[in-house]
Amino acid sequence: MRLNKKNDRASQQKNKNMKNLSMIAAVGENLELGYQNQLLCHLPIDLKHFKEITSGHTVLMGDNTWFSLPKKPLPNRRNIVITLDDVAFPDCETVHSIEDALDLVREKDEEAFVMGGATMYRLFLPYADKLYLTRIVSSFTADVFFPAIKEEEWSLVENEFVPKDEKNMYDLYFQTLIRK
Ligand SMILES: NC(=O)c1ccc[n+]([C@@H]2O[C@H](COP(=O)([O-])OP(=O)(O)OC[C@H]3O[C@@H](n4cnc5c(N)ncnc54)[C@H](OP(=O)(O)O)[C@@H]3O)[C@@H](O)[C@H]2O)c1
Repeated sequence: MRLNKKNDRASQQKNKNMKNLSMIAAVGENLELGYQNQLLCHLPIDLKHFKEITSGHTVLMGDNTWFSLPKKPLPNRRNIVITLDDVAFPDCETVHSIEDALDLVREKDEEAFVMGGATMYRLFLPYADKLYLTRIVSSFTADVFFPAIKEEEWSLVENEFVPKDEKNMYDLYFQTLIRK
């Protein structure tokens, strides 16, 4: 059974720019995110980076991303999964609207991370105050993309170049952007 969307547009106005809501994603040169419900490529250095940043915190994800995880829930993190269907997934907290997810984030005064996928990045971007983007220096075949990032709305505060090596086949930048 499908649940109501709980007036997500109205809640956008109420909750905009939550100071403790961040998003974390790895994107290609054209903001590619994934293909056929898989990540673009295997980059162990980015998985390590993701783990370091999110461990001990809350992660929010859409159900497609939840299903795509090889191991779930992600350990040492509060896992919140968002679906419109009237189901509760095991080993995580399931919510049925963006508003309910934001309420859970608001309960705790600590950083929470939207970790995908494309639908969740699009829906949560208006609320997020910080973006952790891994910019992979390559383009990819993709069927999902990160939403456009308007330069006038974001300040780049970190930009670390990491060259490719024998385990990581692409150059990349670890970037942090903060809402102006
Ligand atoms: N590069 C990266 O950093 C990264 C990170 C994560 C994921 N990804 C990639 O992103 C892709 C998955 O993205 P996706 O957009 O297909 O999936 P998703 O964002 O993980 O989940 C989408 C699901 O969210 C639910 N939903 C949609 N609108 C909603 C709303 N208003 N309120 C509540 N729930 C809602 C729907 O599930 P129901 O149908 O159950 O309602 C929808 O199918 C994969 O390729 C994955 O590998 C990439």
